[in-house]
Amino acid sequence: MIRAIRGTKDILPENINKWKFVESTVNKIMADFHYSEIRTPIFEETGLFSRGIGESSDIVSKEMYTFVDRSETSVTLKPEMTASVVRAYIEHSFDKQQGFNKFYYISPMFRQERPQAGRLRQFHQFGAEALGSNNPALDAEMILIPYMILKQLGLKDLTVKINSLGVPDSRENYKSVLRDYLSDKFDGLSEDSKRRFETNVLRIFDSKDARDMEITENAPHLIEYLDDESLEHFESVKQILLKAGVPFLIDPILVRGLDYYTNTTFEISSGSVGSQTALCGGGRYNLLVKELGGKDTFGVGFAAGIERILLACENENVFNLPRKEIDLYVVRLDKSLEKEVFGTAHFFRAKGLSVELDYLGRSVKAQMREANRLNAKNVLMVGGEEYERGNAVLKNMSAGEQKEVSLSDLNGIL
Ligand code: HAM
Repeated sequence: MIRAIRGTKDILPENINKWKFVESTVNKIMADFHYSEIRTPIFEETGLFSRGIGESSDIVSKEMYTFVDRSETSVTLKPEMTASVVRAYIEHSFDKQQGFNKFYYISPMFRQERPQAGRLRQFHQFGAEALGSNNPALDAEMILIPYMILKQLGLKDLTVKINSLGVPDSRENYKSVLRDYLSDKFDGLSEDSKRRFETNVLRIFDSKDARDMEITENAPHLIEYLDDESLEHFESVKQILLKAGVPFLIDPILVRGLDYYTNTTFEISSGSVGSQTALCGGGRYNLLVKELGGKDTFGVGFAAGIERILLACENENVFNLPRKEIDLYVVRLDKSLEKEVFGTAHFFRAKGLSVELDYLGRSVKAQMREANRLNAKNVLMVGGEEYERGNAVLKNMSAGEQKEVSLSDLNGIL
């Protein structure tokens, strides 16, 4: 038997309401903040991600679904959306038009990670990217939007962590300070961190290895080496968040796994999802548009993982979904009336009501049981003596009342 690929999941009808609930909350809040939806292809030229996210990142160096297609082009299933949105922004000359744009998306993403609870190989993100302004209010907005969405879904156990990575000059300066600090401790580092010492020394802070954590515990922090402008920007972001009532912690070792960040970085994590605690992450990327061939353009954004959010909602037991029900179930009392019943169901469906009927030749009793199972608000019974008179019996299931209605004049009965 062929099974779904490891790390991918079917979203079954019994769960679809939860997904729609998340998606409609996202659509509503994004509309309130005046973001426009963008949809980009599932795959892109590989170079977009290797240049955008960075060769030394885990995503590019070991997690991408990359293959050479029949025309010898190396393509990659998108592991994230920021690079794709920026590519579309440049390709459609948004950078040369009004300049400032706010986009949002809901889309599947692909990363070949080791699957576990909350970590999949095909997963889904919603997110936003604002391009064309360096205003710290936008950094704060990118934290506020997911925070509001998560709160609206009912989640409580949330922690917002923020940091600033500054600009490349101050960061390069800090990197040499960090390398100096680590150099006489190098032999004690894990193999991964030894590699990162050269390729991406900041990521050593991400290591979960106990030895690495002990070594970096007293290391100097980037925030102490930030240039004045970055510090001022960070200060404004904090002030705006305070004003908006978003509680946050400053996490000086929050470096994030993608290389495009400058200045603000942030994550929102949940205490109710096991080991994969990050529900959302993002930050500012003021150099990415230029790096990908566009005009010098500021950028900031976030993305949140829907599967992890659903897991948190389940664990916090916050789903209070509306009961699934249908407007009408049409019961066929006589087998010979199959076409008549289908026509009646169609009449109401064409009016915009949700209607179900039996396709399995079931008995009247079984049809009634099905109507109950589907939480039908009304049942229309077609057949018997009433049918001889040109009528049918309409039963309102919550009130338990029933009345005879004319089949030739069904307008206005529901
Ligand atoms: P990211 O931190 O790589 O950032 O991913 C954002 C979120 O996607 C994570 O916090 C997590 O909830 C979810 N996620 C990531 N990988 C997986 C996985 N394998 N399985 C399930 N969920 C996952 C980005 O993708 C950036 N593009 C965010 C951004 C937008 N920065 C600026 N703009």
